[in-house]
Amino acid sequence: MIPFLDLGAAYRELKTEIDSAVMRVLDSGWYVLGPEVEAFEAEWAAYCGADHAVGLANGLDALILALRALDVGPGHEVIVPSNTYIATWLAVSSVGATPVPVEPDPATHNIDHSRIESAITPRTKAIIPVHLYGQPADMDPILALARKYELVVVEDAAQAHGARYRSRRIGGHGDVVCWSFYPGKNLGALGDSGAITTNRTDVADRIKMLRNYGSREKYVNEALGVNSRLDPVQAAVLRVKLHHLDRWTDHRRCIAAAYMDKLNNTDLILPHVPDWADPAWHLFVVRTAAREDLQQRLTKAGIGSLIHYPIPPHMQQAYAGMMIRPDSLPLARTLASEVLSLPIGPHLTMDQAQAVINAAAHK
Ligand SMILES: Cc1ncc(COP(=O)(O)O)c(C=O)c1O
Repeated sequence: MIPFLDLGAAYRELKTEIDSAVMRVLDSGWYVLGPEVEAFEAEWAAYCGADHAVGLANGLDALILALRALDVGPGHEVIVPSNTYIATWLAVSSVGATPVPVEPDPATHNIDHSRIESAITPRTKAIIPVHLYGQPADMDPILALARKYELVVVEDAAQAHGARYRSRRIGGHGDVVCWSFYPGKNLGALGDSGAITTNRTDVADRIKMLRNYGSREKYVNEALGVNSRLDPVQAAVLRVKLHHLDRWTDHRRCIAAAYMDKLNNTDLILPHVPDWADPAWHLFVVRTAAREDLQQRLTKAGIGSLIHYPIPPHMQQAYAGMMIRPDSLPLARTLASEVLSLPIGPHLTMDQAQAVINAAAHK
């Protein structure tokens, strides 16, 4: 059996290191924020090449607090990809703004920058590119549009730890970059957690205040904040795993290269990697009109696969109130019916990858 992802494998590999890091926090008596969170924030900011990182409770909160810190709220429109995980849209709705979907580039599945300009109105305040599947979005044209129309750019990097855009790591291109460390992510904690990175000191300070009941000084509350602090136990786990992230990403790259090479002559549409992109390979997503057959072949061979994502946000009941016609975003709709994610991860062996190739290639 080859599971889609073995969540326990990273813990088993690093058990001694992780156990001692967790014990360090338990022994310290410091259970909310404090030195462990600050150390992870400094290390994560340095890794991403950003001036600041702020640890938060999860990736959705990271997006919400980023938008709040940039004064995005009721009456504003925010450009989002039509093809994304629903959290991107939910963050916009949570601050009272309206998500305005833009279709993907059919080759990369990421937001098509050439379609963004026509979606901009006087109410547009922000663009949220998503580095979906760990494939960097094409940031330069998006940043140019943002400058032209005075918009802010909030990146959803929940799937892109260690990915590079034009040789520079994701983490400091836009105004704020939002991270999830959900256990299945490339850098995953042992529970929920998240962060933002930014080069803007004003934004980092504001998010620190908002995550802590809107307070910078104990019992003095200047904004309607929330409690969304990165747990120090999770920070300690993340510090251990961060040392291994690049090695793990290299292994993902080897698996992706094998899939690209050996599935090249099949009727599967493989990921397109532009020459400016160095993906983190969070997911290896193939596309085929015969998805059911492919998934059945994999299941028969004992191989797990998943669909990211089967229902696009605009077709979810949660967004029924926006009255977006399903066929008004045909690319998002088609991708939802044709994509399938093959197993990939730091603990999938090359033999297992070969078994995936055999099952996926042969009808
Ligand atoms: C693209 C994307 N955005 C946002 C999120 C939300 O992150 P979290 O689950 O940590 O809230 C996720 C992951 O779940 C995601 O994949």
